This record gives sequence, structure tokens and C-alpha cells, in this order.
Amino acid sequence: MAVDVLLGLQWGDEGKGKIVDYLADQYDIVARFQGGPNAGHTIIINDQKFVLHTIPSGVFRESIINVIGNGVVIDPITLEKEIQGLEALGVDVKSRLLVSNKAHLILPTHRLLDAASEAAKGKNKIGSTLRGIGPTYMDKTGRNGIRVGNLMQDFDSKYKLLRDKHLRLADQYPAIDFDLAAEEEKWMASLDSLRSLKKVDAEYYFHEALQDGKKILAEGAQGSMLDVDFGTYPFVTSSNTITAGVCTGMGIAPQRIRDVIGISKAYCTRVGSGPFPSELFDEDGETLRKVGSEFGATTGRPRRCGWIDLPQLRYTIMINGVTKLVVTKMDVLNEFDSFKAAETYIINGEESRNIPFDLDIPGLEMGYTSIDGWGNLDGVNSYADSPSTFQNYISYLSKELEVPVPLISIGPERNQLLEV
Ligand code: GDP
Ligand code: IMO
Ligand code: MG
Repeated sequence: MAVDVLLGLQWGDEGKGKIVDYLADQYDIVARFQGGPNAGHTIIINDQKFVLHTIPSGVFRESIINVIGNGVVIDPITLEKEIQGLEALGVDVKSRLLVSNKAHLILPTHRLLDAASEAAKGKNKIGSTLRGIGPTYMDKTGRNGIRVGNLMQDFDSKYKLLRDKHLRLADQYPAIDFDLAAEEEKWMASLDSLRSLKKVDAEYYFHEALQDGKKILAEGAQGSMLDVDFGTYPFVTSSNTITAGVCTGMGIAPQRIRDVIGISKAYCTRVGSGPFPSELFDEDGETLRKVGSEFGATTGRPRRCGWIDLPQLRYTIMINGVTKLVVTKMDVLNEFDSFKAAETYIINGEESRNIPFDLDIPGLEMGYTSIDGWGNLDGVNSYADSPSTFQNYISYLSKELEVPVPLISIGPERNQLLEV
């Protein structure tokens, strides 16, 4: 039995949460393998909206076990709030949730350091969500981190040591507004909730589940262009968001990975700083933002909007080994009589289907092609019923990106999907 992977192919917010929720009933287990509460995965079921940050998006399906893998970083405050929010909706979270003993904890002082480091960067800010992600992964690789399993053991001494180290580090930055005492009080109180959850040695759990013939879906957070190695460094997150992250973030052997389902919007967005070659600064960009409600699910920040970028997608499809592409937010393009797709990067007059080392090079131009729109999708319930121009765009993407498109999303609700 195998593990399928679902992840974002752009700069995040591709609609991963919605697609995981839809596909989850084909699986026994859904697991997160990286990232933390910087993620915001929106699921809308019968007009009821929920944004998940740490809990996998299979949580709305009764029979599915959701695992927070070792590669995830957990803020117990966010996790507790998420659990309370789900319980208020009648979702029996605790019976469906397992946490890896090896996942690392985000301390209040990690958030303090994130904010202080961003403030000190001035104009060169990453645009971090300020959830403490970078400093927590730094402590993980620096071998100073505290893991969920430590909660039951030598937690107090480890906490004090790390917190004191953070405060010495924070002294090197200009002071910022951060009420550490209040944050620590909330954090300590939230540990009870984390202690009450079922913990597992998740790598054994996954292995045994696979031996028993169970099916696992690994749910990515962020997007491949935010990967710490292959994204637009340094304007990236601090984890491996790509397929390879499943092996290290869950303890899954590479040969267990079967399908890699890549998610792309029908256009492109980015939130935070960093290069975005097909970004629009005109009315079309405004239309995408307005019609697509492009505001961050975690921070509420307006998302930067632009046209779909095929060299960028070819790159992330290659790195991830994508076997299936899901295109989301096709309905947002209803507004356009025609729209564009970037087919090539033009560097010093030379066209390339690959992306360069630095996406921010001066003089970079995009080779756009124009695509006919389709008006509206009212009453369209199947792919066969969709307008021919709609189908032409899907065929074009599939041909250009050399990957099948079995599923298309045409609205935020769970059932607003067309199977091809
Ligand atoms: P994620 O981080 O990849 O899970 O994506 P987000 O939840 O951050 O952002 C995707 C946004 O688009 C959410 O507000 C979704 O409700 C919404 N969404 C998802 N699919 C579609 C779609 O096909 N059409 C429209 N209009 N909205 C969608
Ligand atoms: P989901 O899972 C979009 C961006 C931030 C910032 C950079 C680094 O919802 O797709 P960090 O907080 O990790 O230090 O921020 O990465 N970023 C995201 N952008 N969607 C996300 O997650 C993101 N998680 C982080 O805006 O530019
Ligand atoms: Mg999101």
C-alpha cells in the first residue's frame, strides 16, 4: 500500500485544504508533514467556513485519522484554539487526531525572535506570518529544540534553558512590542490541551498502517516556491514543502510514495515579499484579488495577484514528480473576456522554458500568450457541460505541463468541483 501526496505548486494558498477535504474519504489517514500555523487551509461545507492551521484537512470526515507528523512545528495555543473551534461545530477532533512525539514546539520566545528579526530587516522583510516558524526550525536544525515527547519528560529544564537563550538573542535586536509574560501564561495554560491529545511514534504508526493495507494522504502546507531549498530564497519558509519533505516529515520511505497531486490556481498569487515575475499591478490584478477574495487565511493580508506562470509550474512539477494536477479557482476567471498565461521567461532577449536562479533579475520579461475566456459557469455541473473555451484552457495546461488534470475546482464549497 502506498502514500499519496497533495501539495501546492505555487506560493501557497492554492486551495489545498478544500481538495484534501474532498479527497479524504478515499483514504484512512491524512497527515501533515511540514510547516505549522503559518498555514491557513480553508474548508467551506454548507456555507460554514473553517480555517485549519495545524490540524490536517481530513478532520471533517468521521472515519479518518489525522496525524500531525514529526516535520510539523506546533504552537499549542493555536492548536488548542483550533480544537475548540472544531468542537464548537460538533467535530469530535480528539478521537480523530494523533500527534507525533517528534514534532517540535513553537515557544512564545520563538515568536518574539521572529518579530524582532523581521523588524530588524527593514526594507528586506521576508513578510513572515510571524508565527515563530523560522526560529523554531532554526532550533530544530541547531539541535536545541523541544519536542512533543519532551512534555512528558524533562520539559521544565529544557524550556528554561531555551527561553533564556532566546532572551539573550533578542537583546541583540532593537526592542519590539511583545508582552512575553502574558504570552507565556497563555502558552503554559495551553499545554494541558496538548498533553491530553493522543501521542504516537508516528513513523511506526504509518508503517504499521501501510502493512495493514491502509491508505495515507500526506497534506502539504505552503507551496513549492516557498520551499527552503528550491523556492525564491530567502523569501521562503523554513521547511521542505516539496514531496521529499514527506520522507523526512513523516518517516516514509521514498518507494512508498505513489501519486503526487499538485494544486495550482488558474492564475497565481503570493503573500509576503519576494519575486513574482507574472505579478499584475493593474486593474486585472485588482479584479483577481476582489473576485477571488485573495486575502490571507492566516494573516488577512491582501494577496499579490498575477497570471499563471508555466515555467514556474513546470519547475515545481519536475521537483515534486507530480502525477496529477488539480486546477482551482477557475470560476474567478469568469470575469475575463480573455486572460494571459506566461509561457516563457525572456532574459536578455532569450526565451527560456526554465526559471533562472534568481527570479528578481533586472530586465526579466515574461512571454505571455492570450487565452479566450468563457463568461460564466452558471448551471455547469459536469466537465462535459462546461464551455469549450473552459475545456480548451484545461487541455492547454495539461499539454504544456505534460500532466493530466483529473479535477477542477469552480468555487469554494466542498462540492464545487468537476471531475474530468
Ligand atoms: P490553502 O492554503 O491552499 O488551503 O488555500 P487557502 O484556504 O489559504 O486559500 C484558498 C481560498 O480560495 C480559500 O478562501 C478557499 O475557500 C477558496 N477556494 C478554494 N477553491 C476555490 C475555487 O475553486 N473557487 C473559488 N472562488 N474559491 C476557492
Ligand atoms: P498555506 O499552507 C501562503 C509565506 C509568508 C512569507 C513566507 C515566510 O496556507 O498555503 P513564515 O511565516 O513561514 O516565516 O513566512 O512564506 N507563507 C505563506 N504564504 N500560504 C501559506 O501557507 C504560507 N505560509 C507561509 O507570507 O512570505
Ligand atoms: Mg492558505
